[in-house]
Formats: sequence, C-alpha cells, structure tokens
Amino acid sequence: MPGIFVTFEGGEGAGKTTQIQRLSAELAVRRYSVVVTREPGGTEISEQIRSLLLNPENTDMRSTSELLLYAASRAQHVLEKILPALDRGEIVISDRFADASLAYQGYGRGLDIDLIKNLNRIATGGIIPDITFLLDLPVDVGLKRAGERGQGFDRLEREEIEFHQRIRQGYLEVADQEPNRIKVISAEHDADRVYTFIQEEIVTLFDRF
Ligand code: TMP
Repeated sequence: MPGIFVTFEGGEGAGKTTQIQRLSAELAVRRYSVVVTREPGGTEISEQIRSLLLNPENTDMRSTSELLLYAASRAQHVLEKILPALDRGEIVISDRFADASLAYQGYGRGLDIDLIKNLNRIATGGIIPDITFLLDLPVDVGLKRAGERGQGFDRLEREEIEFHQRIRQGYLEVADQEPNRIKVISAEHDADRVYTFIQEEIVTLFDRF
C-alpha cells in the first residue's frame, strides 16, 4: 500500500483531536496529501451509525449490537474512504480504529477478545495502521476534560467509572502486545510535549518509507 495509515487512540478526554489537528496541519504545510477521519464515522453511512451508537437515548442497546454496529461502521469506512486514500498514496489519520473495539467492547464490555479480533479482520479487510498513538490518561482527569468541552456526555461517556478504567487497562495491554506499532504517550503532559513526541515518531516512521 503506497500511503501511510496513522491512528490515534485513548480514553475519553485524552486530547486526540488537538493532536490530530496539529499533525495534519503540519503535514499539509509540508505538502503531504492528508485525509483526516474518525471512527465511528468518516463516511455518510458510518456517520449515521455513529449517531445511533452515541445517542444517550439508546439505553437499551446490547453489547453485541454495539460491537456489530462499530464493525459495520468500520467496514464501510475502510472500503469507501481509507483504502482508496491509501491507494492514492495519501496519509490517512484516523481518530480511533480497530483497537478501540478491543479496548471498549472487549475489555470494557467483557466481550470475547478473539471474536473481536476476527470481526476486526473482516471489517478492516486486514489493514493495520503503520503507527498508532495511544494517549494515556487517568480516567478521572479524562472525564473531567471531556465534561469541560461543554457538549454534554454521549452514551459511552455516561458509563460508570469502572468501565472507563477497564478500557484504560485494556488499551495498555493491547499496546504491550504490539510495542512496535502502538506508541504510548502520557496525555498528562502539556499538549506541546505530547506533540513533540508524536513528531519524533512520525519523522522516524517517514524515514522508513
Ligand atoms: P470519540 O468520542 O472519540 O469520537 O469516540 C466515540 C466513542 O465510541 C468513544 O466513547 C469510544 C467509542 N468506540 C467504541 O466503543 N468502539 C469502537 O470501536 C470505536 C471506534 C469507538
């Protein structure tokens, strides 16, 4: 695949959006062709699925339905947007991807990890990010930050604190298993320091291409 696929992961309020904006702006200045996208979402159909998933009124949603909706959103996103952009040689930066299903639906909801890995393989067609930044943050700090955005809490943010703690641990375990791809950054540092770390990793990655 000629393009480069970068993903950002982390719990609520980790500051992914700020870092993604900064990285994409810098790459654009350097004349790279960049596609910024997100999960769930990124295409019209996937954004419709996102609304279903995050709507706080959908309190009856079962974990299995949730898992399959994230996977459906991902399959559409990969086929319609990510793969064509990578084929064109562009840099794709996604705010969340397949690791989020492992952390949230696997570790958070307690669904079977191997089953989620298989489902991810179907939804992604086997594509794996070239690099993933995991912005790690204590749960209470992240939820406080998310609350300060002033947009109210979505369906997942409203879950109990233990759910978010399991997700944090889950992400760290997933990162342990793939240290070459997943770079863990403490999001407690100020945004400039977090960005410097990201820049260094991106420079190293680009040298390899
Ligand atoms: P966002 O708020 O970072 O845009 O993400 C939307 C929410 O969806 C967030 O709470 C994480 C959650 N999520 C999952 O539970 N599973 C997934 O596979 C993805 C991509 C996101």
